[in-house]
Amino acid sequence: DVKQLEEIRDHLVSIAHKAGDMITAAHPSTGSSGSKKNSVDLVTETDQAVEKMISTALAEKYPDYSFMGEETYKPGDVLTDAPTFVVDPIDGTTNFVHSFPYACISLGFAVGRVPTVGVVYNPFTRTLYSGIKGHGAFLNETIPLPLNQQPEPLKSLSDCLVCVEYGADRSGNDYAVKTETFTKLCTTKEKGGAMVHSIRSLGSAALNLCGVASGHLDVYWEAGCWAWDVCAGWCILNEAGGIMVDANPGNWEPKIEGRRYLAVRQGAGQKELAEEFWSYVQGKFDVG
Ligand code: IPD
Repeated sequence: DVKQLEEIRDHLVSIAHKAGDMITAAHPSTGSSGSKKNSVDLVTETDQAVEKMISTALAEKYPDYSFMGEETYKPGDVLTDAPTFVVDPIDGTTNFVHSFPYACISLGFAVGRVPTVGVVYNPFTRTLYSGIKGHGAFLNETIPLPLNQQPEPLKSLSDCLVCVEYGADRSGNDYAVKTETFTKLCTTKEKGGAMVHSIRSLGSAALNLCGVASGHLDVYWEAGCWAWDVCAGWCILNEAGGIMVDANPGNWEPKIEGRRYLAVRQGAGQKELAEEFWSYVQGKFDVG
């Protein structure tokens, strides 16, 4: 019931603040960052320490619920239908390492593999986004999202600010699909492109989704995310009237345990805009 979900949201908010203090007190350097898969997929000691604090605080209060976190995930782990906290201790680790103030703690709660509670907190700007399925989404707990409660209709991609990410895999088919599509989006219409107002690549999937929920980004498109990057932001996006669809052309069914996402802000014409977006996508992603 909603009381229980509000209690979970409040617990997640207090954990997010604690995690935020740990993150802003840390002084990572680009040289000291450990490396995961390759030279651009970074993980720091702070990521690991913050996840430990979060999983301990959640297990104390909710010992029966499952936990999935970026730093303790092992290949083969699956998100089940059981109530599960889905956590990224620092989403935007590259930004964190470079002191670019666009990183956050992403705390999601999924039930039946549906994002049900979301808390996303950027401790550098002290910006908190939260949402509960069926009960709205808010900035700093009181301001309803989207920020403009009467958003303009989504008439054409050429009026849009579009957010994309390069991700951590910088070669192969998926990278080609991304970069060729980015070029096409920015090409003038006369040359067969969409000529969007501009594209942005900001480095945090969770904050990008909150940007679409707020209405200051019209579209966000990425393949290569994980459940912990999107669970919290997805709940907030939906509650702000945004839609999430699969990032491969024509597939309307995104999966939380899948890796491809296309988010469109609230406003008349969302589905038509998604269709228009796909008309510029140069190929299909291999990632599931
Ligand atoms: C990454 C960021 C990045 C996105 C990647 C994510 P991390 O998360 O959200 O913007 O492009 O797909 O994995 O590694 O900083 O937690």
